[in-house]
Amino acid sequence: MNFQLSEEHLSVQQAARDFAQNELLPGVIDRDTEQKFPVDQVKKMGELGFLGMMTDPKYSGGGMDTISYVLAMEEISKIDASASVCMSVNNSLVCWGLEKFGTEEQKEKYLKPLAAGKLIGAFCLSEPEAGSDATSQRTTAEDKGDHYLLNGTKNWITNGNSASVYIVIAQTDAAKRHKGINALIVEKGMPGFVVGKKEDKMGIRGSDTHSLMFTDVKIPKANRIGEDGFGFTFAMTTLNGGRIGIAAQALGIASGAYELALKYSKERKAFGKHLAEHQAIQFKLAEMATKIDAARLLVWQAAYLKDQGKDFVKAAAQAKLFASQIAQEVTTEAVQIHGGYGYVKEFHVERLMRDAKITQIYEGTTEIQKLVISRELLR
Ligand code: CAA
Repeated sequence: MNFQLSEEHLSVQQAARDFAQNELLPGVIDRDTEQKFPVDQVKKMGELGFLGMMTDPKYSGGGMDTISYVLAMEEISKIDASASVCMSVNNSLVCWGLEKFGTEEQKEKYLKPLAAGKLIGAFCLSEPEAGSDATSQRTTAEDKGDHYLLNGTKNWITNGNSASVYIVIAQTDAAKRHKGINALIVEKGMPGFVVGKKEDKMGIRGSDTHSLMFTDVKIPKANRIGEDGFGFTFAMTTLNGGRIGIAAQALGIASGAYELALKYSKERKAFGKHLAEHQAIQFKLAEMATKIDAARLLVWQAAYLKDQGKDFVKAAAQAKLFASQIAQEVTTEAVQIHGGYGYVKEFHVERLMRDAKITQIYEGTTEIQKLVISRELLR
C-alpha cells in the first residue's frame, strides 16, 4: 500500500491550485452575490483540460486517472464550488458515460467537443416529482420508429443554460418500469426544447441551475445511449462515478474552509494572544483536520478502486456520505472560528458553509447513500 502521490499527480494538483487561486478567486464573491456563471473561467478550465480529465486522448480528453481528477476537484472546490460542480458533471456524468456506453458516432460528434471543453454537458434525471425516487420518471420518450418524441420537464439541472449537450433520461415503456427507460442525447436548439427558469439558490449560486421543458422534441434513434431500455442502468452506473466527484467537491469545500480558519487563527488576537494559542481553537482545528484527512482517504479509496477496475459502488457512496457530512461540520466551525467576520461575505467561509449543503443533496441525498451502502453490505 502506498499513500504517496506520483510526480504527475502532484503536478495536476499544483496546476489546479494555481488555476483556482489565479482565475477563480478573483470575483468569486461577486459571482455568488450576482448568481453569475463563471463563463470565462469555465472556458479556461476547458482549455487547460479540466473538463475531460479522464477521457481517452483519442476523444480529446486528458487520459488521466480518477486520482488526478479528485485532486483537481478538491483544489478547485476550495475556492469555487460553482465552477467545480460544472467540472464534475461534465467529467463524470457526461464524458464518462458517453465514453463508456456511447457509439463511435456519438463519441465523435459529442464526446470530443465535450472533453475538450468546447461544449458543456448536462445530465438530466431529476424531475418535479422524481428526485430520490428516480425510477418514477414522468418524462416520456415515445418510440416513433426512427425517432423518439420527448415530452416532459426536468428540474434542478446543473449547467442547465450553459450546456449545449444534454443527456436526458425518459420513460419509453411504462409497463416495463425502470427497464423501459432510455437515455437520449438532446442538443440545445432542437425544436420544442426550452430552458426554463434559473433557480435562486442558497449555495453554489454561480452555478447555472435550471428547469428544462420538452414538448414533442424529435430525437433521432442514433442519439439513444445503449440498447433500448438501458437508460436507468446508464443513469445509476454513471452516478456511481459521479458521487466520487461530488465527494471530492465536499472535501474541497471543507479543506478550503479549514485552511482559511487556520490562517485566521494565527492572525487574529483575543485575550492577549493569537486564537491559535487558545486550546478551545486548537481542539477545533484538530477535529477539523482529522475529519478532512478521513474524508480524503475515503475519496482516494473510491478513486483508486475505480482506477483498478474494481467494484467501487459502496466506496463511492461512503466517500460522498462522509465527505458531505464533514463539509457541514467543518465549514460551520470555520465560521465559528472567524466569529463576526465569518458571518460576512468578505471572509469566504459563510459562502463555503452555504455551498457545503448541496453536497448532501445532489447526486443522491445522504439518505440515498445510506441506502446504497446498506444494500451493498447486505447483498
Ligand atoms: N449502480 C448500478 N445499478 C443500480 C444501482 C447502482 N448504484 N442502484 C440501483 N441499480 C439498478 C438495480 O440493480 C436495478 O436494476 P435491475 O432491476 O436490472 O437489477 C435498478 O437499478 C432499479 O433498482 P431498485 O430496484 O433498487 O430501485 P429502487 O427504486 O428501490 O432504488 C435508487 C433506486 C437506488 C433509490 C435510485 O432511484 C437512486 O439512486 N436514486 C437517487 C437518484 C440520484 O442520485 N439523483 C441525483 C440526480 S443527478 C444530479 O444531481 C446531477 C447534478 O446535476 C449535480
